[in-house]
Amino acid sequence: MIHISMYLRFDVIVYIICDTYHIEMGYACMVKVSDEIIIRGKKIKNRIVMPPMVCFSFKGDNGGMYGEQYVDHYTKRAKGGTGLIIVQATPVAGAAEQLGVWSDEQMKPLEKIAQNCHSYGSTVMMQLSCGDVDINELSQEQIHKMQSDCIAAAARAIQAGFDGVEYHFVHGYTLCRFLDPTFNQRNDCYGGALENRMRFLMEIMEQIRDAVGEEAIVSVRMGGNIPDVAGAIDVVKAFEELGIDLLHVSFGMKEPVGDVPAEFKCSTIVFNGSEIKKHVTIPVIAVSEIFTAEQANFLIENDYVDFAAVGRGIYADENWANKVLAKEPIRQCRNCGGSIRKCLWFTDHTKCPAKKIS
Ligand SMILES: Cc1cc2nc3c(=O)[nH]c(=O)nc-3n(C[C@H](O)[C@H](O)[C@H](O)COP(=O)(O)O)c2cc1C
Ligand code: SF4
Repeated sequence: MIHISMYLRFDVIVYIICDTYHIEMGYACMVKVSDEIIIRGKKIKNRIVMPPMVCFSFKGDNGGMYGEQYVDHYTKRAKGGTGLIIVQATPVAGAAEQLGVWSDEQMKPLEKIAQNCHSYGSTVMMQLSCGDVDINELSQEQIHKMQSDCIAAAARAIQAGFDGVEYHFVHGYTLCRFLDPTFNQRNDCYGGALENRMRFLMEIMEQIRDAVGEEAIVSVRMGGNIPDVAGAIDVVKAFEELGIDLLHVSFGMKEPVGDVPAEFKCSTIVFNGSEIKKHVTIPVIAVSEIFTAEQANFLIENDYVDFAAVGRGIYADENWANKVLAKEPIRQCRNCGGSIRKCLWFTDHTKCPAKKIS
């Protein structure tokens, strides 16, 4: 027998299914990493997410496009039990024969990635990126073109079989710059007050929904510090009102510094995600330096967030999710150099020490 608790927010229904044991024991419905969750009618089979990560040293097919190496990479992580796979930052526009999602030629391997992930029971989304552009220099015509590229790219991703899209509003890149009041110096309707800094998404949200249909998940990856947690909370509340289905909290223009409470067993970025969750009813993904089963269980069982995204950990061990759920030892990511920036997947993934011993 199952118990279903339901959050209702406008048109989004999220069911969390808890086993009867916890209810009979008199606990509030404690969610576990192995529990499924349903967003926009799509079942995500557990709370483990592979966050978007560009595979810098992969070889694409036909020049720079996605190809067999990518298909194999994502298929292995689906086979490895990952609940939700978010395919790496994929440009919404660019030159011919580049990796992206704007032309028919680019679609075949993307369709295969979606199909293969589904065949192993993973839900799969695509991160959509507007690159690395100084938004203070953009004309309004250029912004409008970028907006229509974002809508078209979402439609293509869904046509290719993806369950949803995640807009890349993080890590100091283009869309993140709109949101951050310290970077955004525009003095037109895209700069200044929060409403203006959010205008990029606000203006296209309805068209995105029309383009992708009612069943696609529309997510935003954003910073938990824009420029601080209080600023980010204002943004997430507004994003929720716009109809975003899922929030993925990383960092904004800069990685946050600061202590977390002694009992909190994760990074400052994850802590910011847990603070943000208190202010929204849509599900929240936390990310950054979640390497162990203990950390993932801590976050989900204590309801700090709804999903634990494990980046380098799932690079290092494609079976991370299955092993954690089966309580088996994982092949540990070494956190090379003690910083994400030192990860060898930025330069040559074949040198990843965790992979070498397998
Ligand atoms: C090689 C590499 C590529 C990355 N590519 C992306 C990307 O495409 N989009 C994005 O939003 N974040 C990207 N990230 C950041 C990761 O999604 C994640 O937030 C980060 O690695 C922290 O999580 P971890 O400590 O579990 O690895 C990348 C990180 C690495 C190491
Ligand atoms: S290169 Fe190092 S930090 Fe990157 S995934 Fe491999 S073990 Fe982890």
